[in-house]
Amino acid sequence: MAVGVFDSGLGGLTVLDALTKRLPDVPFVYFGDNAHAPYGVRTADDIFALTCAATERLWAEGCDLVILACNTASAAALKRMQETWVPPEKRVLGVFVPLIEALTERQWGDNTPPREVAVKHVALFATPATVASRAFQRELAFRAIGVDVEAQPCGGVVDAIEQGDEILAEALVRSHVEALKRRMPNPEAAILGCTHYPLMEKTFQEALGAGVKVYSQANLVAESLADYLTRRPEFAGAGTKSKFLTTGDPASVSNKATQFLRRKITFEAA
Ligand code: DGL
Repeated sequence: MAVGVFDSGLGGLTVLDALTKRLPDVPFVYFGDNAHAPYGVRTADDIFALTCAATERLWAEGCDLVILACNTASAAALKRMQETWVPPEKRVLGVFVPLIEALTERQWGDNTPPREVAVKHVALFATPATVASRAFQRELAFRAIGVDVEAQPCGGVVDAIEQGDEILAEALVRSHVEALKRRMPNPEAAILGCTHYPLMEKTFQEALGAGVKVYSQANLVAESLADYLTRRPEFAGAGTKSKFLTTGDPASVSNKATQFLRRKITFEAA
């Protein structure tokens, strides 16, 4: 069995790390579309085409189930892929729903009608394309009522992270948090709605203050996948080997990935 994990670049490695810890016996094939990152400033059509191409490549690796470890692709392309493109014997899942299920205190896969939940003011930090899609608000409205969401498009942060410029990324995060707090001074919860942002989680938490609960996706996605594979074992594909594929330059992507995850990662050309 093998499961595919896709991101526009390096951010999905935060999810991959949690997946390998939670499911140590499952081989994962990671695909980073580094040549086309960042996706957050692209059009929905463009994101759809790139995400479909990457997903097909992962299917070719024997991964019948592909996790879009990318909020931008999950927000801008996933619904269209599921409704018009994914054949019945394959599955493509996103990273939004597990996060919203955790925020609204639901069991994994609980699709019962929306109800009142404890949290009332939620700050969402995500890429411009994710914020523009309003997919987070749409998925939340299926599960909860009376929650006020203030979204901040965090332009520049993914670029700075992909380029390894931590100082710039930190400065941008602080200014995006300030901008959001001017519109919503006291959020109870903050969502890091981009898989690159856990790499900056400390800065988000500091800028938001200790009283704000910061939700990041990696562990939630891992728990939800473990549950999914128990319910739907038929989607564990035929692949047997873990590997890292990139559309970018394998040597430089490997270096940055090794730096981010603080363990040796070797990418090969996709
Ligand atoms: N890490 C991705 C996300 O979760 C992609 C960001 C980008 O490529 O702009 O949104």
